[in-house]
Amino acid sequence: MELGVNIDHVATIRQARMTNEPEPVYAALLVQEAMADGITIHLREDRRHIQDRDVYQIKEIIKIKLNLEMSLNEEIVNIALDVKPNQATLVPEKRQEITTEGGLDIVKEFDRVSNVTERLKSKGIFVSLFIDPDKEQIDASKKSNTQAVELHTGAYANAKNEKERMFELNRLIDAAKYAKSIGLTVHAGHGLTYENVKPVAAVKEITELNIGHSIIAKSVFVGIKDAVIMMRNLIKEARWK
Ligand code: PXP
Repeated sequence: MELGVNIDHVATIRQARMTNEPEPVYAALLVQEAMADGITIHLREDRRHIQDRDVYQIKEIIKIKLNLEMSLNEEIVNIALDVKPNQATLVPEKRQEITTEGGLDIVKEFDRVSNVTERLKSKGIFVSLFIDPDKEQIDASKKSNTQAVELHTGAYANAKNEKERMFELNRLIDAAKYAKSIGLTVHAGHGLTYENVKPVAAVKEITELNIGHSIIAKSVFVGIKDAVIMMRNLIKEARWK
């Protein structure tokens, strides 16, 4: 199981003062030293946190996987084609949202998604689509020629009670099994924390988790390297069972 650490919040702190600290590239190097498998960053159309310069710097300096989260916006697609991250995760983007809210609707956006996927793949970029754990979305993803899907774990993370949480976990498990059975690589993420990560990490069909908020929040108190190591240990424990 790979862990991709989303460091957008480091850039959010810097942008709060429009200054030059903290630098996301410094965080990326520390995450790499903590033996995470990848760095995830989202270059948003409104540039509210990660800036173009961060993407280029991180791509140049880190040796682990760079996963660029991105919308279908043409300007962003062109930057991705130029930077050539190891992986691109296509996500929906609305300007007013606090974070990415739902999965990308591949059924509705099929032509645009297929077009962007093809262009990214032609540069050797591994493409993943961020979708809700839904069979229709998985089938449309497969048809779009993507290589992977990232299952949205937000409904699981935000469940109001244990019954709802188990229902959402089972949806994730069924979706992961189905996506893998039709030849897709399966990732998952959004809203995962030190408290709720283990049941998702235990799902064998899922091979990558992308986690941001919880790790960066913990790092305020324990430092980013320890925060990453603590998350890695929980994932390892879940996988051993
Ligand atoms: N995966 C995707 C596709 C996301 O958009 C985000 C949030 O940027 C994450 C994972 C990480 O979510 P969180 O910050 O809640 O861990």
